[in-house]
Amino acid sequence: MAETIRVGIVGARFAARFHYQGYRRVYGVPVEVVGVTAKSEESRETFARERGIKAFDSLEALADAVDVVDICAPGSAHEPLAVAALERGKHVIIEKPFTGYYGAGTADFRGNTFPKEKMLAKALASVERIARAAQAAGKLVGYAENWVYAPAVQKEREIIQKSRGQILWIIGDESHSGSHSPYYGIWKFSGGGSLVGKGCHPLTAVLYLKRVDGETRLAKPIRPAAVSARTHEITRLKNFEDRGFLRTTYDDIEDYAQVHIIFDDGTVADVFSSELVLGGVHNWLEVFANNHRTRCNLNPVNALETYNPREEFLKDVYVTEKIGTKQGWSNPAPDEDWQHGYPQEFQDFMEAVAEGGQPVSGLELARDTVAVLYSAYLSAERRGAEVEIPK
Ligand SMILES: NC(=O)c1ccc[n+]([C@@H]2O[C@H](COP(=O)([O-])OP(=O)(O)OC[C@H]3O[C@@H](n4cnc5c(N)ncnc54)[C@H](O)[C@@H]3O)[C@@H](O)[C@H]2O)c1
Repeated sequence: MAETIRVGIVGARFAARFHYQGYRRVYGVPVEVVGVTAKSEESRETFARERGIKAFDSLEALADAVDVVDICAPGSAHEPLAVAALERGKHVIIEKPFTGYYGAGTADFRGNTFPKEKMLAKALASVERIARAAQAAGKLVGYAENWVYAPAVQKEREIIQKSRGQILWIIGDESHSGSHSPYYGIWKFSGGGSLVGKGCHPLTAVLYLKRVDGETRLAKPIRPAAVSARTHEITRLKNFEDRGFLRTTYDDIEDYAQVHIIFDDGTVADVFSSELVLGGVHNWLEVFANNHRTRCNLNPVNALETYNPREEFLKDVYVTEKIGTKQGWSNPAPDEDWQHGYPQEFQDFMEAVAEGGQPVSGLELARDTVAVLYSAYLSAERRGAEVEIPK
């Protein structure tokens, strides 16, 4: 019997909850979530008590008790936590948006007006510091981008590999009515707005599928070469009429973004993300290849179609993320975590740790994602002018 992999979670709220659930669904590899740490004592104690695990009062104490440190804290904390854990000889798993730029701690930092060329260089330097720490420690870095593992995206991966289709264009979107997290909306914690917070999901799936396409037909990944992008702050327009359905409490981030990506083989992709969409999460990706066309519906899906005449009948039933109302027709998700690829993600990470391999979503995808995101901000600063992505 293989040794049990001991995991410690950093952060004790939204992402930490579904990570914990994800580990419970790992099979064939013995895994134990030993404990949790978080900035807020109350949230780490509550999280630990509810799950019968230990609350640690520091990253160091948690890291010393586990094999894998899983970071579910805001983006601004990802690099320092990851580097500290790697320096203590632990594998790390890092939530999206892997890392980025969060200012230098000065009170006057505003992400939306900070020069983006500098920001791009600093975000890439942050990736490099994590990569160097991983190399020095000889430990694994898992980039927790669940879209890569979503069954809809993985089925398309199989179609591309077996049909040897050439992807010509991909279009994708993740949007909803606004994140719940108090850290979201403030660049110094989140590293950006809709683009970094939501666009990162379809973007990494796009980068992954183009890698698969290249590796299948050309024996080398096809990588992003240039971007054009626009970002906007729609809910902060003077003429925006707030009817109370969209979150509007943003500080210095955009709430709408579009990115046009040109790959090194000349093919293209378009990624949209916003905080302007009612009716639940809007997570989808469409692939146009030379021999097939696939629409990956991540959420919602219509496995269930329920008509509910009165809101209160479903008050104790989870329907879908950010749905807003449960009255009328809806598509309750039979297993939203599975649809999103969460258990599959932890399965892959745990197998990689157990077998000493590399995860499907690791440093290479993370690096390309950060490079595209911050090159896109530079393009948006130049009102959509094409920007070459640093290699
Ligand atoms: N993959 C997904 O679908 C998905 C969904 C939501 C969030 N996320 C990502 O997960 C991460 C956490 O987001 P969330 O929604 O859970 O945020 P949250 O605000 O709900 O929780 C953040 C947690 O981190 C803790 N924390 C903050 N700073 C810390 C620090 N320096 N050290 C240790 N703990 C610290 C807080 O105490 C809190 O428990 C973010 O990177 C976010 O982008 C991913």
